Amino acid sequence: MNLFDTDFHCHILPGIDDGASNTDESIKLIRMQMEQGVRNIVATPHFRLHEMSVEKFLMRREAAYKKLIACHAFNPMPKIMLAAEIALERNLCYADGIELLANQEMNTLLLEIPYEGYRKWMSEEIEEIAYRTKKQIIIAHLDRYVDIFSSADYNDILNIPDAIFQFNTSVFTRWKSKKLLKPFISDDYPIVFGTDCHNSKSRKPNFDLMLKNLKKYEPNYNVMKLFEL
Ligand SMILES: [Fe+2]
Repeated sequence: MNLFDTDFHCHILPGIDDGASNTDESIKLIRMQMEQGVRNIVATPHFRLHEMSVEKFLMRREAAYKKLIACHAFNPMPKIMLAAEIALERNLCYADGIELLANQEMNTLLLEIPYEGYRKWMSEEIEEIAYRTKKQIIIAHLDRYVDIFSSADYNDILNIPDAIFQFNTSVFTRWKSKKLLKPFISDDYPIVFGTDCHNSKSRKPNFDLMLKNLKKYEPNYNVMKLFEL
């Protein structure tokens, strides 16, 4: 399991969020991921604290996963790890059971910074969550903020201790996003990629795009070691 065969962020579980709407669509997405070189999938349905308790989310996620497995659509089945894409909000660090949303195998929590102007509380909250949960934080799709965050904002985020930075594989489709990614690779920051796929039409997986483009850069040895499980 490493940077080049693992989709660290996607919405393939059926009927739990705005991702795959049913098992047929889930199977379609997984098939596409596998064709593109994915062997390990971290399923990360959206979790928003003000919408649902951790307990209810875990029950719904388990039910969605069981529904998918019951289809017996793959032989062998790719490895699927259950996790969540947790919307960052103030005082999230105090929420009960937040650590249960982690990818238990990798001991990581995927946090999504809100799509608004950067505020200092965001990195403070992330640090507090890392401290309290004892999980390694992955910050979701850093490339998404390229139009709204300044370099100073990004620097603040880069200074969060021990954070891992996730980029969407679509990062390679835009010059401005590629420019953001480049120093992360050249300076050997811990980065991972996710397709963030939601469906097989408008937000489909494009893992192959990352494999094709990353060949032009030096591989990130830190991350490869980190996740060679
Ligand atoms: Fe997502």
